[in-house]
Amino acid sequence: MKELSKYLLQVNAEFKNGEIVTEIPYEEVMRLVNEPNIVIVKTNIPEETLQKAVDATRAWAEKTPLAEGPDTFVNNQHKRRLHIAKIQQAPQLFHDHTFDDLTNLEEEYKRDLLTVFDPMRKFWNALTGNQEEFGFKEGDAYLHPQVTHYPMGGSFFGRHWHPLNPQKVGQILALNQYGRDYHSGGTGYVINDTIIETEGFQDMGDLLLFRYDLPHWVSPSSFADRFSWDDPRGRWVAILPFYNPWGTPAEHKEPQGWKEQIQTAKKATSEATV
Ligand SMILES: [Fe+2]
Repeated sequence: MKELSKYLLQVNAEFKNGEIVTEIPYEEVMRLVNEPNIVIVKTNIPEETLQKAVDATRAWAEKTPLAEGPDTFVNNQHKRRLHIAKIQQAPQLFHDHTFDDLTNLEEEYKRDLLTVFDPMRKFWNALTGNQEEFGFKEGDAYLHPQVTHYPMGGSFFGRHWHPLNPQKVGQILALNQYGRDYHSGGTGYVINDTIIETEGFQDMGDLLLFRYDLPHWVSPSSFADRFSWDDPRGRWVAILPFYNPWGTPAEHKEPQGWKEQIQTAKKATSEATV
């Protein structure tokens, strides 16, 4: 384990039989996340595997018309997001691919996506003590595999947050390489009034872990580049949200007051261990 900067830690891992095995126990990783810190896990997932996930997403998106209506949360779809989120008022501009029906995706795409999402799913289960599989669950939380493309030339996601539960820990896996495949933009966080920008710290295959109720954002890709929805360059990430789409959304009021939240969390933890 290595401290890269204040609140930003790096943990090494091996990729063994399709599983992310960290150099420190999973409970220890979660303890660091909850302190809170941003933890970068060097998963060592082969670059070829990550590249294939991007290629499969692009090939599938090419033959799948863009979604335009309200999200169904039960299908596979991709959408150009360009709006201001209703409740949190967070502006966003990116292209997301949501695979809520991953198990029924055509075999050729499913195979290349599962080689990335299965390790993420198993790792999240190991961190949180869950045993979740992929698939829709009526009236309950379930996994929402997503590949997001932040095109060059001005994509971003404004500061927002989520309820801590049931996700507990958010995961953002870098599917391509900063400095080679894109050169600006990255996920940022705020912890105790300190801003933590991970731009330039997250290499291809690195998995960002963060306490899910931390305010976070994606800093813009440089406006010096020309924007195009059709240009595949830019940052590609895989995320694995776990929530009930019909459940209670995050409140408008930020949980940070965070100092207060951390006090509560600490108290809850110390009581739980007594
Ligand atoms: Fe988020």
